[in-house]
Amino acid sequence: MPLTISSDAFEIVTDPGAASPTVATDRPVRAGALDTLGVSSSYLAATGFDASVGSTAVLATTTSAGEQSLPIAVGLGDTELSEADVRKAAAAVWRAASKVASLTSALAVSAADDLGADVAFAAVVEGMLLASYRFTEQKGEPGDADPLDRIVLAAPDGTDAAAAAARASAIAGGIALARDLVNRPAGALTATDLAAAAVDAIGSAATDADPDVGAATVEVWDRERLAAEGCGGLLGVNAGSTEPPALVRMRWQPAGTPRAVIHLVGKGITFDTGGLNLKSFEGMEWMKIDMGGAAAVIGAMSAIVRLTPDVAVVGTCCCTDNQPGPTATKPGDVLRIRNGKTVEVLNTDAEGRLVLADGLSLAVEDEPDLVVDLATLTGACMVALGDRYAGLMGNDPAAIERALDAARAAGENLWHLPLPPEYRKQLDSDVADLRNIGKGRYGATLTAGLFLAEFVGETPWVHLDIAGPVRTDADEGELSRGATGFGVRTLVELVCGW
Ligand code: BES
Ligand code: MN
Ligand code: ZN
Repeated sequence: MPLTISSDAFEIVTDPGAASPTVATDRPVRAGALDTLGVSSSYLAATGFDASVGSTAVLATTTSAGEQSLPIAVGLGDTELSEADVRKAAAAVWRAASKVASLTSALAVSAADDLGADVAFAAVVEGMLLASYRFTEQKGEPGDADPLDRIVLAAPDGTDAAAAAARASAIAGGIALARDLVNRPAGALTATDLAAAAVDAIGSAATDADPDVGAATVEVWDRERLAAEGCGGLLGVNAGSTEPPALVRMRWQPAGTPRAVIHLVGKGITFDTGGLNLKSFEGMEWMKIDMGGAAAVIGAMSAIVRLTPDVAVVGTCCCTDNQPGPTATKPGDVLRIRNGKTVEVLNTDAEGRLVLADGLSLAVEDEPDLVVDLATLTGACMVALGDRYAGLMGNDPAAIERALDAARAAGENLWHLPLPPEYRKQLDSDVADLRNIGKGRYGATLTAGLFLAEFVGETPWVHLDIAGPVRTDADEGELSRGATGFGVRTLVELVCGW
């Protein structure tokens, strides 16, 4: 059963003694902890347990009262613990324990030495919530639920456990929402559905919001409004579809003067067939994930409106599918983007940058302190960086540093790639202001970044190409097979840590 804080799956005990020694946490194996369990470190080593972060061993012990228990030893490594390490260890504990009915964990207590009580506690809650994530809504047979439905967590002395758990559940909830949206098949998630999901996520917070703290609002532009606003990129990509497009704008406005204004922009292609430049069958297999950027923005906004930072945030998602219908945009057609620039579409499969061009043009009109876009933009980025790293490009060294720092704190991998001025001429068009693709197949991630840069002017901006990490094939740490929710935690960190 997926865990939810509100369903009382977690019980928090503030006396750590009450929780130990059901979970032994050792870096490396700490003799004292094992003594209380009646287990020797050589026995533990013989189980194959190596104390690396997230390694586990299920032990069997009998207490002096003759009661059997199954302590789980979880490794925390032998270097200074990070939040990401604790999330990973907590996720591993959850996986090791998910076949039992209840779990008592002292992990937060053990981690608190290095990290501070609140941070360690929140990381444990978040790791367990995320590891318990399942996408089951399309299963005819729901399958057996994980029996684990009650977790007792020991909060270290001095923890504000309720606040830490609320923070963890806001972030884990945002990540789970992003995962649900990405995992949902395109047949069950049109642009209209994606916009409705954003309205739902932000709207429910809007009604809860205390006006003394701030206000959350959300607005959806339909086809007519998009035409009136000059959003020719999004309309051009939508032209071959029978489904209408939607542009969503979610806002968090804190009461009082915000410390900064940050705009988030997400690519929301609910399915990418390639358009008339149709993809191959292998290339199309996973294209329901092509709204992963929008999903990350919606997930992050849902967390932000609950965390109520002193920063104003606007999330814009450009939503449509990319289809090869008879009215589709054809290679050679020219589109006019919101900021007035014209684009010659030479490959209809380079559609993400066309919808983002409108989204970025809108974002910079507010003259924000920072614009961040997220997009499953290029297969080339996966070729370069694989599925564990997103590519980062940007026009401002300070903004790039901030994004890299936020990702490091969030435990998400970003790798800084260049925007080489030498390649800009590949985008020169004979008939319009820009071509939508470079020349030849090399450096396609960078020419995509250079294209986007044309729509942000001087505003500090970073672009995250999340084509690789948007999904995973392995259950590992707090990730489960399928959508990862990549980007949500970095965005929340960037906004809340400003
Ligand atoms: N959505 C794809 C990129 C993608 C590919 C994401 C694989 C995730 C996994 C994007 O719209 C696309 O088709 N990009 C083209 C760009 C090319 C036509 C310049 C690509 O990468 O081939
Ligand atoms: Mn495409
Ligand atoms: Zn795409």
